[in-house]
Parts: sequence; structure tokens; C-alpha cells
Amino acid sequence: MSAIYSRIIGTGSYLPAKVLTNADLAGSVDTSDEWIQQRTGIRERHIAADNEKSSDLALQASRRALEMAGINADQLGLIIVATTTPDMVFPSTACILQSKLGVKNMPAFDVQAVCSGFVYALNTADLYMKSGQYEYILVVGAEVYSRILDWSDRGTCVLFGDGAGAVVLKRSSTPGILASRLHADGSHADILSVPGQVCRGAVSGTPLLQMDGGAVFKFAVKVLEEVALETLEAAGLQKTDIDWLIPHQANIRIIQATAKKLGMTMERVVTTVDRHANTSAASVPLALDEAVRDGRIREGHKVMLEGVGGGFTWGAVLLQW
Ligand code: UT7
Repeated sequence: MSAIYSRIIGTGSYLPAKVLTNADLAGSVDTSDEWIQQRTGIRERHIAADNEKSSDLALQASRRALEMAGINADQLGLIIVATTTPDMVFPSTACILQSKLGVKNMPAFDVQAVCSGFVYALNTADLYMKSGQYEYILVVGAEVYSRILDWSDRGTCVLFGDGAGAVVLKRSSTPGILASRLHADGSHADILSVPGQVCRGAVSGTPLLQMDGGAVFKFAVKVLEEVALETLEAAGLQKTDIDWLIPHQANIRIIQATAKKLGMTMERVVTTVDRHANTSAASVPLALDEAVRDGRIREGHKVMLEGVGGGFTWGAVLLQW
């Protein structure tokens, strides 16, 4: 039997209509467009409407990915949603998305790996695909971080945005995903967290994002290089083989430092952080969709996707387009 690969045959994304600029934020917290752009590269971010949930953003992105793939939702064998901002405690956002897509019966579940969520979900989907049980799998990253931010904390509220990205994977005898590697180190849980929960009908702890920005920055730059090299080695490839790097979009300085360590010029790095800010699990599929639709990523290109975030979690997926 020939090897089974997962090939992405459709991508899609969705950004809520409302745009919040740095200047808008400077009207409510002690910050400036100049500070935010210099330290992060962010100019603006999208914010979900009050009635928009992660599943609504996921639905729009999924419809676009299914349309590009040329398949109907009822052909999907599995649905995986990566999110840190689920619609509710349960059911999972994946089950809610399945219902909104108007289909049933195929398994659907969420992956919670914060900003590495999409890479975790893609790796998981690839391993399911290799079982031979499925022909099409939908993988989505969807987030409404605006709901878990302290809008009076200038150290965090300027950094994040809302959005969703999706891909449709197809079982194939040609590559496809070449290699992927995941990691976690729970001992760093406190440098990036939302340390709250629903307890006996009330919120206990702090249901808003807290971060030690400097510690996160250093950790991210270190592990994004390490896991890229590890994934290249697993695929038997070199740094120079990468056509496109699509790292998690948290801060342009983290992205530039990672590209430099991998010996890549910024022309080969896809960046959306200036317009989207950090959309956590949605950032990588949002950037991927943009580069696929504008024609930068073409058949045969090797693309390195990388995630890093709370947990701490990190990982990479290397694929051939
Ligand atoms: O998905 C992973 C999620 N998180 C990240 O990736 C974040 C990683 N970390 C970062 O991106 C950066 O560390 C930040 C952008 C958060 C901060 O940049 P920095 O260069 O590390 O700045 P800093 O934390 O050293 O802060 C410098 C100064 C401080 O003032 P003092 O103490 O020097 O007087 C901050 O209070 O900047 C101040 N500051 C701000 N000033 C204006 C912090 N936030 C702001 C702000 N506007 N929004």
C-alpha cells in the first residue's frame, strides 16, 4: 500500500467587520500608535460584533475553505476546531460549527493549545488521515480574544484581535504534509494565562489574559527556531529548502528574529500581524489563506507553519503545496 499524505486542497478565512486601530486604542488607554508599531508591528486588529462567537467566525472561514476545495460539508469525515475562546463550556465549538454547517454524524472536537492550536490540530488531523479512515478533514482555528482581554491593561489589550482560518485536507498518495512536531512545557503556565474558571455558577479566579511579555518573547524566539530545525530534520530537508515561513503572528520582532535564525529574508515570510494583530489559534490559517489566495504559495512550494503560545506549547508543520 502506498503512503498516505494529507494535502490541503482548500483554505478560507474570515475577519469581523469592525477594525480597531492603534489610534482608537490610544483614546482609551495610555499608549500610542508609535509605541505599538515599534514594539509589535501591529497597526490595527478586527473585533467581533457582540453577537459573533468563535463558531460564527469559524463557519465563514470553513465555507470559504470548502468552496475552494470543491466539496460539500457532508463529505467531511472529521472536524477539528482549535480555539481558546470557545462559545461555551460545552458542547465544543467543533460540534456547534458542525451544526451550523448543516451536517451530522462525523466526529467533531476542539483542540486547546492556545496560540499553537492550529498547528496542534493540523498535526492531529494528519495522524488521523494516516489511519486511512478519512478522505476529507476540516481543520479550523477560530478566536474572539476581545472577550478575554482586560481593556484597561495597555500591556496586553493592544496585542490581540479576532478572526478565523480554515483548511480542508484530502487524503492523497502524494505529499502533502511532510513532517510535524509538537511540544509542551507546563512549567511555564504562569507566563501567559487566563487563570479563571466557572465554578458553582460564578467566575472564580481571573477570566482575563495575563502575560509576562518579556518572558514570552524570549521563549518564543528560542523554540520557534528549535522546532523548525527539528521538523526539517524529520523531513530530511534543510533550512534552504523552505519557500515560505508562516509563523504564529504575535509580534513582528519575534517573526524577524525567527526568520534571521533560519537564514531567511523577510520576503519569504508571510506576515499579517500588522493588520490582524495576534489572533491566537487563527493567526496561522489566516496568514496561509492570504498567501494562497494572492498567489504567493504555488504548487511544489515547501511551507513551514509554526505555532507557539500558552501552556507553554509549540510546534511546526512542514508541507509541500
Ligand atoms: O502568542 C503569544 C502571546 N504573546 C506574545 O507573543 C507577546 C510577546 N511579548 C511581546 O510582544 C513584547 O514583550 C511586548 C510587546 C508585550 C512588550 O514589548 P517590550 O519591548 O518587551 O516592552 P516592555 O515590556 O519592556 O515595556 C517597555 C515599557 C514599559 O514601561 P517602563 O516600565 O519601561 O516605564 C511598559 O510599561 O513600555 C510600557 N508599555 C507600554 N507603553 C505604551 C507596555 N505596554 C505599553 C503600551 N503602550 N501599550
